Amino acid sequence: MILAGTSFLIVQQAIAEDKSVSERRAPTKAEMTKPNQNLIIEANNSLFASKYPKQYQGWSDTAKSNEIVSALEENPRLIVLWGGYGFAKAYNKPRGHFYTITDVRNILRTGAPVDDKTGPMPMACWTCKGPDVPRLIAEWGEEEYFRGKWARGGGEIVNSIGCADCHDTKSKDFAEGKPALRIARPHVARALDIIGKEFTMSTKSDKRAAVCANCHVEYYFDKAQANNVVFPWMKGVDVDSMEKYYDEIEFFDWKHSLSKAPMLKTQHPDYETWLMGTHGKNGVTCADCHMPKVQGADGKVYTDHKIGNPFDNFENTCSNCHDQSKETLRKVISDHKKDIKDVMSKLEDQIVKAHFEAKAAWDAGATEEEMKEALKAIRHAQWRWDYSAASHGGHMHAPDIILKVIASGLDRAVDARAKLALVLAKHGVQQPIDYPDISTAEKAWKVMGVDIEKERANKEKFLKEIVPQWNKYALEKGLILEVPPAK
Ligand code: HEC
Ligand code: HEC
Ligand code: HEC
Ligand code: HEC
Repeated sequence: MILAGTSFLIVQQAIAEDKSVSERRAPTKAEMTKPNQNLIIEANNSLFASKYPKQYQGWSDTAKSNEIVSALEENPRLIVLWGGYGFAKAYNKPRGHFYTITDVRNILRTGAPVDDKTGPMPMACWTCKGPDVPRLIAEWGEEEYFRGKWARGGGEIVNSIGCADCHDTKSKDFAEGKPALRIARPHVARALDIIGKEFTMSTKSDKRAAVCANCHVEYYFDKAQANNVVFPWMKGVDVDSMEKYYDEIEFFDWKHSLSKAPMLKTQHPDYETWLMGTHGKNGVTCADCHMPKVQGADGKVYTDHKIGNPFDNFENTCSNCHDQSKETLRKVISDHKKDIKDVMSKLEDQIVKAHFEAKAAWDAGATEEEMKEALKAIRHAQWRWDYSAASHGGHMHAPDIILKVIASGLDRAVDARAKLALVLAKHGVQQPIDYPDISTAEKAWKVMGVDIEKERANKEKFLKEIVPQWNKYALEKGLILEVPPAK
């Protein structure tokens, strides 16, 4: 494939010239600005219904996973941990792929733009939502796609994750009913090159996981370039390597509203943690569990496209390789989940306290110099906590890795608090300090200065006034046959 091939060459060249890793990762200007006329992307999922009825049905059935669960209301500590950042306003657990467009429109984090130039979020926020993204990148070039505010893409990015996100739907193979898997996002192809998994040279099995790495990964927006999406894999995909990379380029997503620490928001390093877990090491891919081969009524084997919880399809997933009963394996996994949750909560408690203690230290007149090391320890502790929390399914994919990451996070949190205790003592602050009541989301929002009612009212207005314009544009342009569900 042209895209991956070109970026592979560039990486090779960079290695040959012994460039530093941070230089090596950057796409060239030519790469960023050039549209790719050879890449034709049919993003309209509805058009595949008649030719591929079984795959289409499975894909549509992801709509059945429709529950919206607020992680903030379940665990108000998150509101403090993400203080000053959009995630403190709203963060829901993942649900079916069918809802990506609906959910990114509805979530408070994307705010309430009034036109295509108002914020708060950049275009990059669309990047894991569906096949209109690679379509636009191919048509416009990367730099033009990433330019400007999120609202700019509202009328164009309207199909939820679909066929063309994973398949070369214009290929001869696909026309013959073969998978023809493909990576259509250039930044993903580049990232896979860097970890030695160049897509076009990959095994069938690596490809089956790589398509999920389009989105289920850690990434950041590169403000130094076009606010484009970059995966921080230049030194490795484990928690230490990515932290080291971020520290070296002095990247931070935001400054915490209490502690002023330069924070990292981990996204969802599902692919990375899976790679390091038992199944990843044994070549058992995402698709083996989340998209098993099943037999249709006509006796023909096909791939189940209802991506969800593999336990709902036990006979075709775990059972293929394991003799244990569903109950036994379920218990193993739910025990892992519980063990992880227990220690994760302890880490959250430590970091929440550290943020309040840092605020108390600033209030008492602490200096930048006195605070520097403590803030760095908070940054590292929370990066580690978030790496484990945001690795969805991490308790299944790599429980041992997740426990190790949390343990190292606890070490950093203790370090932060020990340093803060000294600063507080130096400034005559009595310890323990008073920690405010954050036992419910409402209380935590108040403590953190989030006016949640106002956020919700603004969003309602946006959904009523702006979104219908987007839908109208997309229908008229023939990008969709039906508008995305409102909820
Ligand atoms: C998230 C990625 C993803 C999406 C989205 C996706 N597929 Fe697939 N598809 C796969 C994978 C993985 C396979 C199996 C590849 C293999 O076996 O090597 C597959 C296999 C197929 C095949 C080959 C026959 C078979 O069933 O194994 C067809 C045809 C197909 N998909 C059609 C579709 C259509 C139509 C859509 C949209 C409605 C779609 N796919 C959406 C990942 C995806
Ligand atoms: C184009 C980006 C993209 C691709 C490709 C993608 N995902 Fe997702 N996935 C998402 C997003 C975004 C969500 C959350 C959707 C929401 O809550 O609105 C999600 C949700 C999920 C969920 C939760 C579903 C539920 O019902 O709770 C699972 C499981 C999942 N993805 C697995 C996979 C697997 C396995 C692959 C590869 C075969 C894959 N995804 C490919 C972006 C992607
Ligand atoms: C060996 C089987 C297996 C493999 C391989 C696997 N998963 Fe999973 N995954 C599961 C199971 C089982 C769960 C649900 C765990 C539970 O019920 O607690 C899950 C959960 C998830 C979730 C969380 C869904 C939610 O609603 O919170 C996501 C996202 C996910 N997997 C994505 C992936 C991706 C991406 C890959 C490959 C990089 C992958 N999985 C590889 C078995 C697997
Ligand atoms: C394609 C084959 C395959 C599938 C499908 C599969 N596994 Fe595995 N599983 C393996 C292999 C291989 C190992 C490693 C065995 C070893 O090291 O002895 C393993 C190890 C495990 C382990 C022990 C290692 C650990 O991670 O702690 C558990 C638990 C497990 N699998 C659960 C599941 C569950 C649950 C599912 C279904 C959601 C599943 N597996 C699906 C092949 C598979």
